[in-house]
Amino acid sequence: MSVIRVRGLQNLHGEIRIQGSKNAVLPLMAAALLHSGIIVITNVPRIQDVFCMLGILESLGCHCRFEGHELMMDTRSLLLSRVPDVHGKQMRSSVILLGPLLGRLHEAETCYPGGCSIGRRPVDLHLSALEKMGAEVWAKEDQIRVSAKALHGSDIYLSFPSVGATENILMAATASSGITRIHGAAREPEIEILCRFLNAMGAAIDGIGSDLLTIHGGKPFHDVVFAVPGDRIVAGTYLGALMAAGGNIRLLGVPTEHMGGTLAAVRGMGCEVKAQHGDICACMKERPRPVSLCTGPYPEFSTDLQSVMLAAASVAQGRSRIRENVFEERFATAQELQKMGAHIIIKGKTALVTGTYPLAGGVVQARDLRGGAALVVAGLAAEGESRIYGYSYISRGYEDISRDLAAVGADLSLEED
Ligand code: UD1
Repeated sequence: MSVIRVRGLQNLHGEIRIQGSKNAVLPLMAAALLHSGIIVITNVPRIQDVFCMLGILESLGCHCRFEGHELMMDTRSLLLSRVPDVHGKQMRSSVILLGPLLGRLHEAETCYPGGCSIGRRPVDLHLSALEKMGAEVWAKEDQIRVSAKALHGSDIYLSFPSVGATENILMAATASSGITRIHGAAREPEIEILCRFLNAMGAAIDGIGSDLLTIHGGKPFHDVVFAVPGDRIVAGTYLGALMAAGGNIRLLGVPTEHMGGTLAAVRGMGCEVKAQHGDICACMKERPRPVSLCTGPYPEFSTDLQSVMLAAASVAQGRSRIRENVFEERFATAQELQKMGAHIIIKGKTALVTGTYPLAGGVVQARDLRGGAALVVAGLAAEGESRIYGYSYISRGYEDISRDLAAVGADLSLEED
């Protein structure tokens, strides 16, 4: 079993190149299925969720080659429309294969998606939208099946700007006849990236970046080469690490234009940040100042960075308030932070955190991907050694968090237990 061992209280100094974005690349891999041809994606992170999606594409008949950070997908041989349970159970993003498979093969089947246990995570918005576009939906027990002889454009009104539902609708709509409008679409940067990718493949999507997306369906697709931008959540995690440990770091390859909320929060906590041309220089001289934030759909503060902020707030000079508005079980990590001496009280959707420094090294268990990274961040501000179990969660989204943080002077390593 892999475990991350951290010995805290070392300042960080140096540079980290930020990996490509997980939440961007997974929908691009799904969208490749819409086209029968060759798709090349560069700057692809070597993370477990990408390997899982690769396993799905290959089991459906595609030929893929993943060398370094370049992924080539030959989708001409796509044959099957059923996502194998073994992969579907492993990650949430398996559900976004419904739209492209429906568009290309007129049918798709998958189990209810797996992924991190951070809340109920229903897929009703995905399914009702596909139904409105002409699909027959059969959802029972553990299986979802959709089929449609032909999809047609439609006006879809989302009651919540779901990222996954917006992605599924976008992909199905590009293969539909007529015009689809998504009202109340998610505005996360990953949606914008997917739209740009689909347009580069031949689709015609207007309103990119807004909450009203208009898709002129039925345009022919063609081969494309596309680069994945840097991962804003990984960059935010390393800023959290800097706030916990102190020091001076430079992050390279960061989508700074999509990090407004994160940069405002870390500046508010006393981190000096200069962001320009895709690089961030950040300096932390003292313990963090307390923070008050609420998570929400983009451009609000990202729920994916809530646990990391909880870890940084645990060592702040004062009392922080962090409200989670998106996933009801994201506070599971608080219990692990408490084992390291953090003073956190959860009241409904709000965490009240009274900072203390240093934390105490401990043996803790990652409960989900971002929560696992938050425990590593907490370990950097803890006296003595911490051991963080549950590496299989962390490796779903971070190429090598130990390599990255050790490169800037943290005393941590990945070991077999
Ligand atoms: C994506 C991201 C995840 C991020 C989240 C919110 C990927 C691979 N994952 O997840 O990292 O934290 O966006 O930014 O990109 N909901 C429903 N019905 C639905 C769909 C969603 O009620 O049909 C609810 C969910 O339970 C949740 C909220 O909407 O409370 C947000 O979910 P959604 O935006 O769909 O997140 P994901 O696409 O799963």
